[in-house]
Amino acid sequence: MVRIDYTNAMAEVIGERDGILREELLSFRHFVVETHSVIQKEKNRKFYFCKLPYQDTSQIKEYAQYIRDSFQYFVVIGIGGSSLGARMLIDSLSQKENSPQIFFLENVDPEGFHSVIESIEIEKTCFNVVTKSGSTVETIANFSIILSMLKEKLGDRFKENLVFTTDPEKGFLRKFGSENDIKMFDVPPPVGGRFSVLSPVGLLPAAVAGIDIDQILAGAKKMDLVCSIEEHVEHNPAYLVALIHYIANMRRGKTISVMMPYAEKLASFVDWYRQLWAESLGKDGLGQTPVKAVGTIDQHSQIQLYREGIRDKIITFIQVENFSTDFKIPEGLPEEISYLSGHSLKEILTKELLGTKAALIKSKVPNITVVLDEISPYNIGMLIYLYELATGFSGYLYKVNPFDQPAVEEGKNFTYALMGRDGYQDKLEEFKELYKEKYRIEIS
Ligand code: PA5
Repeated sequence: MVRIDYTNAMAEVIGERDGILREELLSFRHFVVETHSVIQKEKNRKFYFCKLPYQDTSQIKEYAQYIRDSFQYFVVIGIGGSSLGARMLIDSLSQKENSPQIFFLENVDPEGFHSVIESIEIEKTCFNVVTKSGSTVETIANFSIILSMLKEKLGDRFKENLVFTTDPEKGFLRKFGSENDIKMFDVPPPVGGRFSVLSPVGLLPAAVAGIDIDQILAGAKKMDLVCSIEEHVEHNPAYLVALIHYIANMRRGKTISVMMPYAEKLASFVDWYRQLWAESLGKDGLGQTPVKAVGTIDQHSQIQLYREGIRDKIITFIQVENFSTDFKIPEGLPEEISYLSGHSLKEILTKELLGTKAALIKSKVPNITVVLDEISPYNIGMLIYLYELATGFSGYLYKVNPFDQPAVEEGKNFTYALMGRDGYQDKLEEFKELYKEKYRIEIS
């Protein structure tokens, strides 16, 4: 179950300066109906991610089982949309017993690389190289080092320890995989990196971790069903979330969207959301900056600012009703702390969330709460689809293309130029024009 409580974002609770009027939400109804019909028609193209919940997962599950049976370690080599989704699924839904130990090689930080290599035995490791373009610098650099290590240990049998997830036709990785007879899974061409978690990009690592991927898709399907039928803004969770954030941003100056789960396992969900929201909507001088916080930890770090600092935030709390375990505080505590006796950690967590929300209402900070009855594959599937569709729909509100990332490409182009890649000589000249280190201070 996923419930969205947006009471505290409404003007009748926090006033018109910061809160949203119901009439304002309803005034978008024609826009919503029109955009809804466009989105339904785009499901075979730009909104292809909406079709992923309906895919056949038998090959993914079969190969994941083979990996589970054959390897002690599993390393995902990928970055951005090619790693954050898998990481989110594994962190929030936890690896099951008897699964290979799972690691991620995302960055090109040599010490990070070293710590992964130190933790595994190369010959007992399956490496899942994930890159839609097949050419991302970090991924290809990490893969190239791993490849030489595999060849050194295993000779021609190196290919047995590799599985690629990449574009079905294009890119270096596809070519290399075909030439070397390496097992490969496809990233459907219309699905961009940050919308690809429900493809083999996220599902293969999740299945290797023993997570029920069909339940994830069942949850996503349920959300798709609801969002496909409901054209009314107050009944369609994805459009509602998108509109609340859009109005808060464009009409109330809330340029920052904080997501704050009161469940540590969902911290990676926020990392995934941050990329989705930022890279999809941060265009043409628009967009909202997504910020990560975790309850209760960040109550002791951020809430002062959220309540009394600049009034530029809307907060999404994620609340979990049932945890897999709980601990009771013993009876008979000393007088000063005896109010805690008999209560449980979960109870304190929930009450701290309520207390924080009340404090934010007092300061008129708009906040919504997404409630999950439990952290389950089904609920996570619902949540993923909800935020993907909310992001896609927001593209129409902001009038930006949520599926490209031209500003990211530019940094990549300069890096290629600096690395001496063929065809990027002009970029090197442009770099030299742009980049100066004129004002500096150095202390040793
Ligand atoms: O959302 C995106 O498209 C990006 O974040 C990509 O996922 C990221 O740059 C990695 O790209 P690739 O999968 O081509 O290696």
